[in-house]
Amino acid sequence: MFGKRAEGPVPPKPRPAKPAAPRPAPKAEAPPKAAPPKVAPPKPKAPPKPVAVEPNHSDAYFQTKTTIFNALIDTIDLSQLAQLDMESAAEEIRDIVNEIISIKGLQMSISEQEALLQDICNDVLGYGPLEPLLARDDIADIMVNGANRTFIEVDGKIQLTNVRFRDNAQLMNICQRIVSQVGRRVDEASPICDARLPDGSRVNVIAPPLSIDGAALTIRKFKKDKLTINNLVEFGSISPEGAKVLGIVGSCRINTLISGGTGSGKTTLLNCMTSFIEEDERVITCEDAAELQLQQPHVVRLETRPPNLEGQGEITMRDLVKNCLRMRPERIIVGEVRGPEAFDLLQAMNTGHDGSMGTLHANSPREALSRLESMITMGGLGLPSRTIREMIVGSVDVVIQAARLRDGSRRITHITEVLGTEGDTIITQDLFVYDMNGEDEDGKILGRHKSTGIARPGFWDRARYYGRHGDLAEALDAAAE
Ligand SMILES: Nc1ncnc2c1ncn2[C@@H]1O[C@H](COP(=O)(O)OP(=O)(O)OP(=O)(O)O)[C@@H](O)[C@H]1O
Ligand SMILES: [Mg+2]
Repeated sequence: MFGKRAEGPVPPKPRPAKPAAPRPAPKAEAPPKAAPPKVAPPKPKAPPKPVAVEPNHSDAYFQTKTTIFNALIDTIDLSQLAQLDMESAAEEIRDIVNEIISIKGLQMSISEQEALLQDICNDVLGYGPLEPLLARDDIADIMVNGANRTFIEVDGKIQLTNVRFRDNAQLMNICQRIVSQVGRRVDEASPICDARLPDGSRVNVIAPPLSIDGAALTIRKFKKDKLTINNLVEFGSISPEGAKVLGIVGSCRINTLISGGTGSGKTTLLNCMTSFIEEDERVITCEDAAELQLQQPHVVRLETRPPNLEGQGEITMRDLVKNCLRMRPERIIVGEVRGPEAFDLLQAMNTGHDGSMGTLHANSPREALSRLESMITMGGLGLPSRTIREMIVGSVDVVIQAARLRDGSRRITHITEVLGTEGDTIITQDLFVYDMNGEDEDGKILGRHKSTGIARPGFWDRARYYGRHGDLAEALDAAAE
């Protein structure tokens, strides 16, 4: 019963072969068969067309803009401009630009002039060509690969845009502007930098010479309206019954790990899981960049700190998790477990901080557990692997697997329990799986979430203790049909 289970989403079932179409009876005077058509070599794929997120301007426009921009920089005193508020600074720029246009006798239409003013204000005061992307709430990620290529992710699909930077120097300037707001610096000497935009978006910059074709800037846009568990049900990321089980897991203080690949929706799911925490619980969150938005009143939010330019002052995730244990938490939430803090989180789960949660990068619940084991092993505590496994089994109750499927949709593919060990092996049991059974003509993946028929999960007694066993039985029954 507890044998090793299939990992990853359940693959589509093989379709029954179509019965061969009956062949027409050969006619006596059938015309001679045409030679079989030659197989055409596969056409080379056309490069993706950039989606227009800003008007496509002519080269002349960009030339004029550069002329005006240079004249503007020569004219204004940037340090004085920095002291003005945004609106007055924009007004100032507007006046000077209009003056430059008339002095130089440049010919342009009103709409072009407006676009140019906006562009120049964005360049001087904001994040330049990134501004129109940052203003949109439907974009999940912005990925800039050097000055000439910017991709965005919308609805789970990655698209090339027509956003361009003047040159790599402008891109570097903007990266610098972003990271200097959080007191950091990015240049040849320290070419890797994490930062955050004022709206909370997570930013990573890696500059030349490490990134070869100009700076690479990656922004995970902060969603103002975080997705809720109801949204996930609407999107089909989880079934209503699955969501009910997740609600029980969250409210009955069951220790939970959320596993998934990059951008699979782990943090979003963790945020949803925290919505099931009672208002009177003291919750402490530890993150590298604060992304979670807990609605409860009694929450302490902690954030790690990278070392300063002299390489000092670093506060690691492990420091935070260890410190949190002295803060009388009832639950500890770790944004992302990726190193030796795994040990401290497990200890916390094991020592009365029930209902603690964390996310980690892995492609299946099983892999999540073995990653946890290797993180602890690499922490250098010298624990034998059997002890580590026992510790994992004693701490983690449920692993929820998130995945980004090939059609761009995000699904919860497994809700899996950790039951115990048999010899040296950790025994897990899937409660819910996402069963893929094909795709429609638009390439959308079809499938359904179903329970695996387990009527009494390992956390049944706990659910009963919290008076939720009736709901649990109902959800599992309904999903088994
Ligand atoms: N179920 C979902 N349906 C649609 N969009 C989703 C879903 N879950 C997450 N998203 C969107 O996908 C993007 C990535 O989500 P999230 O930040 O939660 O992923 P992650 O796995 O934590 O990524 P990372 O590995 O980079 O930390 C976000 O813009 C989020 O709004
Ligand atoms: Mg995340």
